[in-house]
Amino acid sequence: MRTEYQMPDDFLWGVAVAAHQLEGAWDIDGKGVSIADVMLAGENKKIQTGGRRVVTDDVLPNGNYPNHRGIDFYHTYPKDFKLLAELGIKAFRTSIAWTRIFPNGDESEPNEAGLKFYDDMIDDMLRHEIEPVLTMSHFEMPYHLVKTYGGWRNRKLIDFWLNFAEVVLRRYGDRVTYWMTFNEINNQMAWQDSHPMLQNSGLKDYPSDQAERLMYQASHYELVASALTTKLAHEINTELQIGCMIAFNPVYPATSKPEDIMMAERAMQNRYYWGEVHATGKYPNWLLSYWQHKDLAIDYTDEDLTIIAEYPVDFVGFSYYMSWTVTDTGDEWLFYDEEKNHGDNPYLQKSDWGWQIDPVGVRYAMNWMWDRWHKPMFIVENGFGAYDQLQTDGSVHDDYRIAYFRDHIKAMKKAVVLDKIPLIGYCPWSGIDIVSASTGEMAKRYGFIYVDLDDLGHGTGMRYRKDSFAWYQQVIQSNGAVL
Ligand code: BG6
Repeated sequence: MRTEYQMPDDFLWGVAVAAHQLEGAWDIDGKGVSIADVMLAGENKKIQTGGRRVVTDDVLPNGNYPNHRGIDFYHTYPKDFKLLAELGIKAFRTSIAWTRIFPNGDESEPNEAGLKFYDDMIDDMLRHEIEPVLTMSHFEMPYHLVKTYGGWRNRKLIDFWLNFAEVVLRRYGDRVTYWMTFNEINNQMAWQDSHPMLQNSGLKDYPSDQAERLMYQASHYELVASALTTKLAHEINTELQIGCMIAFNPVYPATSKPEDIMMAERAMQNRYYWGEVHATGKYPNWLLSYWQHKDLAIDYTDEDLTIIAEYPVDFVGFSYYMSWTVTDTGDEWLFYDEEKNHGDNPYLQKSDWGWQIDPVGVRYAMNWMWDRWHKPMFIVENGFGAYDQLQTDGSVHDDYRIAYFRDHIKAMKKAVVLDKIPLIGYCPWSGIDIVSASTGEMAKRYGFIYVDLDDLGHGTGMRYRKDSFAWYQQVIQSNGAVL
């Protein structure tokens, strides 16, 4: 082992999850209904043909709502943390369900039972010497804010958000250093698809010709809210580290044709402008020009722009799963549609859900962001969704997952050790099997720990160590030297 390939001693090897995908207990201890609570289960074959999870107007009595169950982590976390401590993790990324703290989102006083739950959970992590990393909003905003205010299209959401942010920062800021505001805020770039619009911004029931405008408007209010959160956090405690969270899927040109290269460049600028604004405090000129050209009439004030400029994030959190390719559409504004203009990369294999496997893209992503934004980074998601088979002896042979992680960690190490990019930690998705966000399936598994539950919630709920468990354990123990 060449010594120059060693990772920093304080590197945070961890795992990542999100409240709505594992806690269950959707209506316990005063919790309100979140957007995840009105999403029925989907399934892979529907997703492959463009289908999505159906969103119901209210909670239907006999609907299959997998997020209502999760893996019952609300009740099992003490045992699960024991197992995760055995895995050796140094960090655990989860989110705070906004609806446990403010059930409807517009109350002035928080729900003490919800606050207490996270107090206890954080204390349990700390007992195991696991660093908590918290996302404030991970696809689980109060449904009441969607129905009554139209979600983030409404400027009032900034105040509701800040109320929530202040309560949790004050309550947990003495024990939690790393925070992120909005999970994968840039997923809504696929505004032609109603799923990310609801998940990111609570946008539902809008005329389709307004989708693009609403997405940019909602995103602007979120960017202001995020900057104000950074301001607030530093007022509360200067040590707090506030990050954005970007879904990073490199978009490569389909060929070396200059038009394809230009299109891919714009696709990257487009998908990652949220990172640009968060990190540099400025909207890019091309985007302001595009808004004008499309006559989108986005509501943004000089005061908003000053706030954004004055309070950039401390770090850039990002997820990395796959890369895409794009072909020139011939549009002079370089407009393209993610659904229609992405193609297959002939050099890459895909997962069973069609996600292209591209380890080199991790190093590319980190270099791309570092050169532009100059902020420390944190890989807060990376993983491989697969159909795992539990054997009768309780083993699960997931060599495909080990291969995925091995190659991605190798690429990450090159970015850190050779390219000298500051990286705080690596939290693979999802440590323990949980409900898939896009499909609602349990069958799309990401964990090192198998959970015996199926798509209908049937099963013992027992936890089993997969082969990847022992493998990741030695990765952590060796600080990434043994892969
Ligand atoms: C990210 C999300 O998009 O990818 C997670 O932040 C999600 O919430 C993960 O679970 C994997 O996606 P999926 O749809 O396979 O669960």
